[in-house]
Amino acid sequence: MCGIVGYVGKHKVKDILLDGLQELEYRGYDSAGIAVLQKEDFSFYKAVGKLENLIEKTADFNPEGFAIGIGHTRWATHGKPTELNAHPHLGESSFVVHNGIIENYQEIKNALVKEGKHFLSQTDTEVIVHLFEKHLKNEATPFDAFKKMLSQLKGAYAILLATKSLPDTIFFAKNGSPMIIGVTEENEKIFASSDAPLIGNANHVLYLNDGEYGYVSPDELRLFDNENKEVPLQFSTLPASKLSAQKEGFRFFMEKEIYEQSSVISDTFLGRIQDEGIAFEELDPSLFEGINEIKLCACGTSYHAALTSSYLFERYAKIRSSVEIASELRYKEPLLTKDTLFVVISQSGETADTLETLKMAKKAGLKTLVICNVDNSSMVRLADATILTRAGIEKGVASTKAFATQMSVLWMLSLFLAKARETLSTEEIQQQIQALRGVPNSVKVTDELHEKIRRLSKRYLHGHGFFFIGRDVFYPLALEGALKLKEITYLHAEGYPSGEMKHGPIAMADPDLFTIALLPKNMLYEKAKSNVEELSARDSTICAISPLEFDKADDFIKTADRDHYMLEFFEMMVIVQLLAMEISIRLGNDVDMPRNLAKSVTVE
Ligand code: M6R
Repeated sequence: MCGIVGYVGKHKVKDILLDGLQELEYRGYDSAGIAVLQKEDFSFYKAVGKLENLIEKTADFNPEGFAIGIGHTRWATHGKPTELNAHPHLGESSFVVHNGIIENYQEIKNALVKEGKHFLSQTDTEVIVHLFEKHLKNEATPFDAFKKMLSQLKGAYAILLATKSLPDTIFFAKNGSPMIIGVTEENEKIFASSDAPLIGNANHVLYLNDGEYGYVSPDELRLFDNENKEVPLQFSTLPASKLSAQKEGFRFFMEKEIYEQSSVISDTFLGRIQDEGIAFEELDPSLFEGINEIKLCACGTSYHAALTSSYLFERYAKIRSSVEIASELRYKEPLLTKDTLFVVISQSGETADTLETLKMAKKAGLKTLVICNVDNSSMVRLADATILTRAGIEKGVASTKAFATQMSVLWMLSLFLAKARETLSTEEIQQQIQALRGVPNSVKVTDELHEKIRRLSKRYLHGHGFFFIGRDVFYPLALEGALKLKEITYLHAEGYPSGEMKHGPIAMADPDLFTIALLPKNMLYEKAKSNVEELSARDSTICAISPLEFDKADDFIKTADRDHYMLEFFEMMVIVQLLAMEISIRLGNDVDMPRNLAKSVTVE
């Protein structure tokens, strides 16, 4: 996690660093800091909490002229979110910022402490700067010291290091955490963890690969690979205008993103839904040759999209589908066979666990596909094939429109495969396409629906927990509803298969146990209804979401009478998102930046 920025140039270093951090704040917001080196003097500022605290602290700091600077916004891994643990970390005459985890930091720290080094923080990062300074004493140049330090690090990192020994230079390294270098028309250099801070500032950017490192100064940008060979610079271009998402009158980004779902789903369909079937121009047909199984892998909300799609792949394309949580797959020594298409799903394309499983699959020789919202992200650059969701920048930490577009792509992909494998007739495909076309309409938020949920939310602020229950694809949707609620309300919630409640959890039923029951008309309605009745008979408070009246419910959210269960799925998706958001607002929480979380989880 964490976001890092860096700058070498003669413009307003502070503004460039703070603006960059603002764009990266979604990656972590426990604390933030900057260090600026000018005429061999360092100035540094750190603040706990959101970036606004650092902005306030630096109000009177206005450096002019040439400077180098590094900045960081943190999501704590080692050590509490305190000022001492905030980056940049200081040595005797150098500063470092780091995103990732140094796995062997304790070993390095023990050795340095034995040699008399004093540590100020509890972080893994601090070893970087001390190790560098130790080598600075013996190596011929600061760059040699940087290289020697790197050779001793194990783990994931994106590092920027500035030192008084070479006051116009920033050393950098990337391994497993993202880093991009932008070069402006005036030959300034800007570093960032993602494109966002660079758009509008630098039109030429360099996406670093794992193992690469080097340095930048006013006149040079030199890049080396993990075999210490110099790498020729291959720049890409970025769009010139900043597409920074604004709230546009909504109270929160999450709210805006829920309302945007209809239009981003339409964008995601564009050119892909055709009269005769589904077209994915970006996919080479050879990707599916010799494939007998799909293994889907992801984290969090993207995992719920994966789980939902496994029902669709088996039902429509008659292809065996298994789903894995990335952090589990990494260490279970899985059997990965070459007749399996390995599909990772990720909004950010940077989630460390998912990225690692993609590397594992590639190493095992599997064909790989990523379904992702961020072009040029690490996963997109690594996978054999990519389908981009077109959700636009998602700022709310609680994922909404990214999930909606992932589900749109996955439903389309199941039909694309069904056609290729001839497992659905032309007529059945046509019916499915007809239903797909109804998705943008099914996710539209009406004033009436929003108001109903806003009013209802006040009844769900207490209790000893929520069970979201559903069957078939409504089970992963129940998981997703529970995750949304947990992350922004901090209330306990679980998603459960409706039919499984009687195997244990029903013991908890009482009026303070809230059951959010997903009761679609077109998928196992009678079965799911019996399960809800069992809970109602035991006095659980029931909120039923269904197009069919249900007299055993305490609260009832009526959905439209639709003729495809997937359209009911999309409509109910919006309802659980709104419910979580309205409860969170009533509880006075920060909807967009809930505690302890970050938008992009680039650590294990
Ligand atoms: O960027 P990714 O889709 O790979 O992120 C995966 C999860 O971290 C993410 O979905 C997380 O669970 C969200 N906060 C859920 O709202």
